[in-house]
This record gives sequence, structure tokens and C-alpha cells, in this order.
Amino acid sequence: MATEPAQAAEAYHPRPMGGPWGLKISGIGAALPEKVLTNADLTAWMDTSDEWIRERTGIGERRIGGSTSGLSTEAAQLALADAGVEASEIDQVILATTSPDHICPGTAPAVARELGILAGAFDLQAACSGWVYGLIVANGLLLQGMDKILVIGAETLDRITDYHDRGTGILFGNGAGAAVVERDTTGAGQLLSWDMGSNGNYVHILYADHGDVLQMDGKEVFRQAVTVMQRSATAAMDRAGLTADDIDLIIPHQANIRIVEAAWKRLGFDMDRTAMVLERTGNTSAASIPLALDHALSENRVEPGSTVMFLGFGAGMTWACAIVRWAG
Ligand code: UT7
Repeated sequence: MATEPAQAAEAYHPRPMGGPWGLKISGIGAALPEKVLTNADLTAWMDTSDEWIRERTGIGERRIGGSTSGLSTEAAQLALADAGVEASEIDQVILATTSPDHICPGTAPAVARELGILAGAFDLQAACSGWVYGLIVANGLLLQGMDKILVIGAETLDRITDYHDRGTGILFGNGAGAAVVERDTTGAGQLLSWDMGSNGNYVHILYADHGDVLQMDGKEVFRQAVTVMQRSATAAMDRAGLTADDIDLIIPHQANIRIVEAAWKRLGFDMDRTAMVLERTGNTSAASIPLALDHALSENRVEPGSTVMFLGFGAGMTWACAIVRWAG
């Protein structure tokens, strides 16, 4: 049953635009559905093995079930609590997803309703790059005068994955990660640089038609992913005047550990400075980077002044890199 956000309707007032700005991620939340689908489970109906999947992808298990709006709401509530921010203070909800609850309307308004938010809310479809696209868009909205923005990445990929297909069924799972992104008036926190790109010539290597499951040319996605990760990270570092050694933590899209390792070899990054949750989540597309950020923060791997790189690639193809100086 839909709930009426009566309190939010009273509480929400558009704020005056303008003023000093910087960016800080002040709260983070993660949500995974309860049901676990292990590699061993898959062997019951698929000609595969736990050993092969772990060795070729780095994945041990993934989650299935839940809804994109439900997981988003859960993650967003945790992020708001973590930031100490009331839902009524949120100026915008951006939900990056490739598996919305409906084709129309977007899922973001339903999430906003559950949270009691009447501010703008829209879905952003840039596949696995979506959350990084969302962060960069949020920075632009802060520049226009907004104060607090929810940037969510959420997926229920089990609805568009054939778990009998050896190419895709071993990879994808569900989950959500949410961040409260705030204007930082101290100037300590900043989006130092960013890069976004796409190449529609590669639509055919990873896509799902209406009512159908994901189709993928895994080898070509692998090749392209390594190339665009290298290109995008290099472009963003060049724009910020940074080198690989200046990046304290890299949070890549969690698709395949071998993709990350291959790209890192070219970029001069090392796995010690890399946040990974792939082993227990599988590929959760737009949710994967905020899920990995949530995990990295829980392990105190980010401190004030840290330089953090978010690096995504996905269907489209799309890619995006954002380098953030972490606020106090
Ligand atoms: O967000 C982006 C999402 N997409 C991706 O990240 C996909 C990127 N690509 C990949 O992750 C990899 O291409 C896959 C994991 C999908 C496949 O790994 P691969 O190393 O490219 O395997 P392959 O297709 O070259 O197959 C190698 C061998 C073949 O056997 P033979 O011909 O060498 O005897 C396959 O039949 O492995 C076999 N194979 C499997 N064996 C066990 C293929 N899939 C499986 C499987 N379990 N699931």
C-alpha cells in the first residue's frame, strides 16, 4: 500500500540556489536480499563448478530476490541515518538502475515516496556506470545550489538473468547501495575531476530486449572493459594532475576480478588499494560501486583527505570515472 508523504509535503521547501560548494559523501548504506545463490547451487542445473567460477571471475555467491524500489529504500534509509540527515532535507533523488520495477514510471519516485520525500526523483540508466554518472550529475546539482542529494545504485538483475546460461548466470545478482551526497561548504571535500563516455557501437555486446534476458558476448565485454577503464581513469587523473601513486583507494565496478587485474596492470594500480566485494555479491551492475564503498568504509579504508577513485564501465558501452577528495 502506498503511503502518503504528508509530513514531507509540509517539510519540503525548495532552497535558494547558489553559494560556496564542494562535495562530500556524508552517509552510505547497503542492502542485499536475504536469499543467497552460491556457485555450488548453480552446479545443480548448470555444467560448471565453484572452482571454475572463482578462478575465471572471482565470484563465490550472489543474492537474488527483493525489488529494486525495496532494496533502494532500505539502502537509502541506512545512508540517511549514517549521514544524520532527515529525508525532508533531501533536494533530489537519483536512482541509477538497469532493472527498474517498471518500464514506466521510473522507480525513483516510488523510493522517494517510501522515504517521505517530495523533491525531484528520477532514474538514470547508464548500466553498470550508472552510480558514477549519478555522482557526477549530483555534483552539477550541488553547483546549482542544492544541498543534499541521494545517489542510489540498485538492481534486481535476477529478473533479467537466465541462471541456466553459463555465460551470464554465473555473474549477476541483486543489491543496492546509497549515498547521501552533500554540498561541502568547507571546501575540504571535492570532486577533483571526472570523465564520462559512451560508445553506442557496442550496444550488441551486452543488452536485454523488452521481456527478455541479458545477452552478452563475454569475451568482447572483457576486452572493451579493460580498454575503457584504462582510458577513463587516465583521462580523469590527467585532468586532476594526479598519477596512479596519488590515488589512495580505487573502487571499480565489480564485474570480474580478472578485468580489474588486467586494467590495473596497464594503469599501475595495485590490488592492495582496491575495494572489492565481488566475491560475495557477484556483479550487481549500478549497485556494485556503492556496495564496495560501503564495505571499504566499514573497514576504515577511507579517511579525511583520502583521494578516492570511482571507476565504472557497462553496457552501452558506457564508462565513467570520478576522483573525490574525501571530506573530514
Ligand atoms: O558489467 C559487465 C558485465 N559483463 C562482464 O563483466 C563479462 C566479462 N566477461 C567475462 O567475465 C568472461 O568472458 C566470462 C566469465 C563470461 C567467461 O570467461 P572466459 O574466460 O571468457 O571463458 P570462455 O567463454 O572463453 O570459455 C573458456 C572455457 C570454454 O571451454 P573450452 O572450449 O576451453 O573447453 C567454455 O566452454 O570455459 C568453458 N566455460 C565454462 N566452464 C564452466 C564457459 N563458461 C563456463 C562456466 N563454467 N560457467
